[in-house]
Amino acid sequence: MSFDPQAQQLNDAISATHPQVLDMLSQRGKAIYFPKLGVLSQSAEAQGKNINATIGIALEEDGSPLVLPSLADAIKLPKASAFTYAPSPGRPDLRKLWKEMILQKSPSLAGKPISTPVVTAALTHGISMAAYLFCDVNDTVFIPDLYWENYDLAVTLATGAKLETFNTFTPAGGFDVAALKAKLDGSPRGGKKIVSLNFPNNPSGYTPTAAEAAAIVKVLTDAAAAGDKVVVWLDDAYFGLVFEPGVYEESVFAPLADAHKNLLAVKIDGATKEDYVWGFRVGFLTYGIQGGNAAVYEALEAKTGGAIRGNISNSSHPAQSLLLAAWSSPSYPAEKKRAFDLLKSRYDKVRAILAAHPEYADAFVALPFNSGYFMCVRPLKADAEVLRKKLLADYSTGTVNFGGILRVAFSATPTEKLEPLFANLYKAAKELG
Ligand SMILES: Cc1ncc(COP(=O)(O)O)c(C=O)c1O
Repeated sequence: MSFDPQAQQLNDAISATHPQVLDMLSQRGKAIYFPKLGVLSQSAEAQGKNINATIGIALEEDGSPLVLPSLADAIKLPKASAFTYAPSPGRPDLRKLWKEMILQKSPSLAGKPISTPVVTAALTHGISMAAYLFCDVNDTVFIPDLYWENYDLAVTLATGAKLETFNTFTPAGGFDVAALKAKLDGSPRGGKKIVSLNFPNNPSGYTPTAAEAAAIVKVLTDAAAAGDKVVVWLDDAYFGLVFEPGVYEESVFAPLADAHKNLLAVKIDGATKEDYVWGFRVGFLTYGIQGGNAAVYEALEAKTGGAIRGNISNSSHPAQSLLLAAWSSPSYPAEKKRAFDLLKSRYDKVRAILAAHPEYADAFVALPFNSGYFMCVRPLKADAEVLRKKLLADYSTGTVNFGGILRVAFSATPTEKLEPLFANLYKAAKELG
């Protein structure tokens, strides 16, 4: 297949030091490029000229953005930070700041070159762009069996690649690293292998311990060392919400970012859950690979920017500007701590309720959880869907059935309602058997 010369240039830049990354890209990933020629470059060339009739927005007579006062009055941001387009890869200052924040939150990334994060329209879009760039119709994505259901739409239905699940948990209740290894070892060596991991996990609320995280990194690195071309997506949607000691607090992206030349780590993260801005739609895609240099990262960023341009053109400018202001605010750390403390207090309350009610173990068991927004219970006798419906009808209590387990969002349940929530679960389950 022949590519546009601009795509070929990016592919050549990648191949110069990391030919294996080219093998990891999908056909669309190989073909995509961020158009440097055409409208964008001509518009850039006209910047600062006396007459600039290139831009596809509308301006007032004085050159400021033409806006409707009913909107401008409701927005405190400068007009140019809210109403105009943001660049396809995102505001450069926001991208730079998020990179610094990633390095701060995962200190073992220090000294490891990683790409500059590219802004996506939140994490779903990040997953969808990762699927665009890396998944072809016959590809397989290995994923723990407890996964966020939207992967079916964003990956399988969008690209045709299939999700192949492995056990999330061992019978003893740890992360099933051996199941991941079996998947990697069970398919022909030397091929592309895509692995998708999400910690803290939706739906289970589980993050690996430090030892489990090290074991996960080892099996992925071993597969890369054996010749597989491994792409690992790290969906860090709930990053930072770790509530127990001994649980791995950095992103698994950090140890993977320089693990092996055959292993490309793709961090999918953002403000949605971390900063409690679900409707803002701001996320990021960041790359890490051993020996990663400016040329390979810039090429991957350009491909990601191109995929975004062809898909949504660019992400919300007002949301990016608001986050930039919040992240630069001196009160941000204290505000984050208050939110963390609230969610941790709910987590602690759930733990206390389960400990205070050993009889609940006759009706349901809690799956391992230590982080994030959720925890899950597995009904022992009752059918999960029948139980869910009974909880709605007879106990005015809503939960989500994830194929036989019920997910409880303690993040969204006021503390005083947690005790009745579990009491209702118990009573309803007992009534069913
Ligand atoms: C694991 C996981 N990844 C991604 C997302 C999507 O987040 P966003 O709202 O930023 O698209 C969610 C949202 O529920 C999620 O649970």
